[in-house]
Amino acid sequence: MVGYAFMGAAHSQAWRTVNRVYDLPARARMALICGRDTAKVADAADRLGWDAYTTDWRDLINRDDIDVVDICTPGDSHAEIALAALAAGKHVLCEKPLANTVEEARAMTAAADVARAAGVRSMCGFNYRRVPAVTMMRQLVADGRLGVIRHVRATYLQDWIVDPQFPLVWRLQKDRAGSGALGDIGAHIIDLTQFVTGQRISGVSAVTETFVKERPLPAESSGLAATADGGAAPTGQVTVDDAAVFVARLDGGALATYEASRFATGRKNALRVEINGSLGSVLFDLERLNELEFYDATRPTTEQGFSRILVTEGEHPYMSAWWPPGHIIGYEHSFTHEMRDFIEAVATDVDPTPSFADALQVQLVLDAVARSAELGSSWAEVAPTLTPASV
Ligand SMILES: NC(=O)c1ccc[n+]([C@@H]2O[C@H](COP(=O)([O-])OP(=O)(O)OC[C@H]3O[C@@H](n4cnc5c(N)ncnc54)[C@H](O)[C@@H]3O)[C@@H](O)[C@H]2O)c1
Repeated sequence: MVGYAFMGAAHSQAWRTVNRVYDLPARARMALICGRDTAKVADAADRLGWDAYTTDWRDLINRDDIDVVDICTPGDSHAEIALAALAAGKHVLCEKPLANTVEEARAMTAAADVARAAGVRSMCGFNYRRVPAVTMMRQLVADGRLGVIRHVRATYLQDWIVDPQFPLVWRLQKDRAGSGALGDIGAHIIDLTQFVTGQRISGVSAVTETFVKERPLPAESSGLAATADGGAAPTGQVTVDDAAVFVARLDGGALATYEASRFATGRKNALRVEINGSLGSVLFDLERLNELEFYDATRPTTEQGFSRILVTEGEHPYMSAWWPPGHIIGYEHSFTHEMRDFIEAVATDVDPTPSFADALQVQLVLDAVARSAELGSSWAEVAPTLTPASV
């Protein structure tokens, strides 16, 4: 694994857990973790359960006993690490968004195609697909329970940079993160809604905004921080969007709206998706991730209404390995499910999803949104991936 902070910790927990929860054709061994700071990565290896640590990710590539490289770094290093790992015959799990640019995502997808021919697998970490209620939404759509999909309404809202004094961390720098709320959280709802509906976004009209254009540099990068007596810290330009809002057409005929913001005061990690079809509707809310609201318009009029399904039965996706019905699961389980599916695919020699091609398609949507916003919201078509996407 490369990176040991937020996603490094979330993925480590999943790698630790997955062998013990699921009966898999192969077992994960947590061999080597990489970070740039020796003391911090040593501590992380100990805390997160890795056998060893290194400060150079090339050590992962060079070791013959390492089969999988899990990339949990900011987007500016995804392409370089993934390309080197695939060339060395390592299976790759890469966090989302796949890359910072379409060009990088195309190169990664091309490398994944070459590697696949040699049995080397790759996957992008859109973990919300693996929340059981989300997987179930997809099944309801695929089974025709919603009929023809007319509307998709997706929001992903956070508020962690409402304070203008919040520092200029890597997520607010285009060269490190690619984009802001758009690629960080907008990418999730793009992937999730396409996964659930089986439809792809074909074109968009967008607005984006950077509400706070200059912020204090982080203490660790400047050596200085704002002082309590009013001394000002050096500042830098915010080079990404704080919020992105767009309307979209899906290729199956649905109309969609998307909103991704880091300025939705009071909303911490509020991901909601509602889908309306000719025969029914579904609503998912991440703050109630064990539940799905389902409206079945085929029921007698007198019995119609949104029903709350508790997605904790053994028959529900992923749930048979967990607890008795009604004993709920959480955010971290989506990563255990991700590792389960990845290990199973690699061990049985099939392609895991979402593939790099699927993630490239999300990147092309992000690119269309950015282009539309730059051109005063004019309609922007999503460019073709040129590689067949799996989902
Ligand atoms: N799936 C999700 O829900 C989800 C949530 C958060 C972040 N992410 C994605 O995960 C990735 C990492 O985000 P994060 O929140 O964990 O960031 P973070 O800042 O918490 O951690 C980044 C880690 O990468 C390390 N790192 C950076 N450059 C490195 C290099 N060249 N070599 C070795 N280590 C390096 C840092 O030291 C740190 O450990 C991003 O692509 C982000 O978009 C996904």
